[in-house]
Amino acid sequence: MKRTDYCGNIDEKYVDKTVVVDGWVHKTRDIGNLLFIDLRDREGIVQVVVENDYNDFEYAKTIRTEFVIEVEGKVRKRENPNPKIKTGGIEIIANKIKILNKAEDLPFFPSEKKDISEETRLKYRYIDLRKDKIKNNIALRHKATINIRNFLNDNGFYEIETPVLIRSTPEGARDFLVPSRVHHGKFYALPQSPQLFKQILMISGFDRYFQLAKCFRDEDLRSDRQPEFTQVDIEMSFVDENDVLELSENMLKNLFKEIGVTVETPFLKLSYDEAMEKYATDKPDLRIKEVIEDWTELLGKTSSNILNSIYQNNGKIRGIKFQNGKNFSRKVIDNLNNEIRELGGKGAFWIKKIEGVIKSSIKLNDDELSSFEKSSSIQENEIYLFVGGNNKEINPYLDYIRKKFGNIGEGFEFLWIVDFPLFERDSDGNITSLHHPFTSPKPEDIEKLDIDPVQVYSNAYDIVLNGYEIGGGSIRIHDFELQKKIFEVLGLSDNDINKKFGFFIKALKTGTPPHGGIAFGLDRILMLMAEETSIREVIPFPKTTSGMDLMSETPSEVDEKQLKELKINIIK
Ligand code: AMO
Repeated sequence: MKRTDYCGNIDEKYVDKTVVVDGWVHKTRDIGNLLFIDLRDREGIVQVVVENDYNDFEYAKTIRTEFVIEVEGKVRKRENPNPKIKTGGIEIIANKIKILNKAEDLPFFPSEKKDISEETRLKYRYIDLRKDKIKNNIALRHKATINIRNFLNDNGFYEIETPVLIRSTPEGARDFLVPSRVHHGKFYALPQSPQLFKQILMISGFDRYFQLAKCFRDEDLRSDRQPEFTQVDIEMSFVDENDVLELSENMLKNLFKEIGVTVETPFLKLSYDEAMEKYATDKPDLRIKEVIEDWTELLGKTSSNILNSIYQNNGKIRGIKFQNGKNFSRKVIDNLNNEIRELGGKGAFWIKKIEGVIKSSIKLNDDELSSFEKSSSIQENEIYLFVGGNNKEINPYLDYIRKKFGNIGEGFEFLWIVDFPLFERDSDGNITSLHHPFTSPKPEDIEKLDIDPVQVYSNAYDIVLNGYEIGGGSIRIHDFELQKKIFEVLGLSDNDINKKFGFFIKALKTGTPPHGGIAFGLDRILMLMAEETSIREVIPFPKTTSGMDLMSETPSEVDEKQLKELKINIIK
C-alpha cells in the first residue's frame, strides 16, 4: 500500500474510487458489527468504516486513539452526511488496514474538547500541535511567510541572511551572549535585530533587502513578547519616509487578503504628540472610539484644593467620557482606584449626569459644576473619569481607563505613528534613543542637538494594529559626522564609539546612500490575523513567560566538560 491522498481532501468526487490514506486515529466508535474510525492527517479528518465482513475484524478492533494507521478502501456516499466537515459527505469502506504504530501514555487527546492548561500544552507540544486550532495557526504562518516573500520578491527585494553570532547591537534590551571557546574571555551576542547588517548591505549597494530574521532579546516576557521572535526586516536605499510607508501598506494589504480581509490604504497617520494627547499611548487601539480630553484649564482653576495644586504645579487634568454612567457603581470606581494605585497612581475622580443632576466625586461648587456642564455638553447618563498630575505619570492610567471601559469595535484598525522625538530621558535623567541611535533627526531640528536634544524630532515611524505595535522603522543617518554627533549626545566617548561601532562608522564613510527601512513583528501580526491574544499561539515551539521551553526543559545545565572547555566557572 502507498498513500494516494490526504484524508482531509477526499470528497464526493472520489465516490466509487479506491484510495489509500495514512494518519492518526482521532476517534473510534465500536458499535458491535461496525467500527467507525475518524482518521486525521494535516489536511483534515475522514470517516473510515470497518464492516464485520472485513477479513480481520478482531485486528481492526485493537486500534486505539492516536495510533498511526494506513487504510485502503473504497469511497462511498454517506447515508447521514456531516455538513460541518469538508469530507462529511463521504466515508471510506476499509478493505485493508495496517497499524503502522501504536500510541501510548498520551497526557491528553487532540480530540478532547475540554480546556488543557497551557503548561501541559507546552510540555507536550507535539500532541498540542495535532489540534486543529493550533495546526491552522501554523498553516497560516506558512501561508503568510510565503505571501510576504513573494510580495517582496515581486517588488525587487533580495532575501539576504545576516549572521546570528554577532557583536552586540543596541536595541534597548539585554543581549543573549554566547561564549567563544577559541577566543577565551570573548563573547558573541545573538542579534536583537539585524539593524547594522542591513544598513551595511545598503552601503554595499544591495538597494532593497529583506529577511525573515530570528531576533533575540533578553527582556521581561509578556503575551506579545518572546525571547526569540521573527521580524520581517526590510531596508531600502534612495527612499524617503513615504516610500517605506507605502511599501509597508501594500505588503500588509496583500498579506491580509490571505484571510479574506480587505485593508483600506493609506492608513491613518498620527504624530507621536497627537497620539499621546488623544490616547495617552503611542500604540492606541483605534477600535475604541473614546478619546482623552484635556480639562486642565477649567477644572484646575476651581475651588478644589487638589485640582488647584495640580494646576499650580503645571500638571494636567485629563479625562475620558463614557456613555453608560449608570454602570459606574461605587464598587466599579473603588476597584478602578485600587487598580490605579497598584499601577503607582493616586486614583481617578468622576463627574457624571444622572437624572438631570450633575455630580462629582471631587468637591466642586454648583457654579463650577454647571460651568463644566455647559462647556463639556455632558448628556444624561454620561460620566467623565479624570486623572490629574504630571502628564508622563498620568498617561498609563488614562490608557488603562480607556482600554478598561471603552467600547471595543470590530475589525482591523491600522495606524501609523510618526514624528517621534529622537531621544527621551530615562529614570536617571540620562538621554537615550527612543528607537535606536541610527535614526535620523528631522533636518530642521539638527541644530537643537547641542542646545536641547530632547526637543529634536526624528524620521521614525511605528505601525500599530488594534493596540499592538506591529512594526517600526526609520530613515537612517547616512552622514558619518552626524552619526558621530548622535553617539556623543548619547554620552558615548570617542573610545566607546570606536570600540562598539568602529566598524560601522568606518563603513559609513565609504559611500553610504540615503536609506531607510522597517521591521515588522511577524508573530504579533499573525496573532492578530488568527484572532489570538498571545503570540505563543502562532509559534510552533514557544517559551513560557519565564523563558522556558517546557518540552525540552530548556534552558538547562551543561556538562562540566563543556564549561571547562569554555573556561567558565559557575558561581553557585
Ligand atoms: P523594533 O525594536 O521596534 O525595531 O522591533 C520591530 C518589531 O518587532 C516586534 N518585536 C517583538 N515581537 C515579539 N517579541 C519581542 N520580544 C519583540 N520585540 C520586538 C514588534 C516591533 O515593532 N531594527 C529595528 C527596526 C528598524 O529600525 O528597521 C527594530 O528592531 O512588533
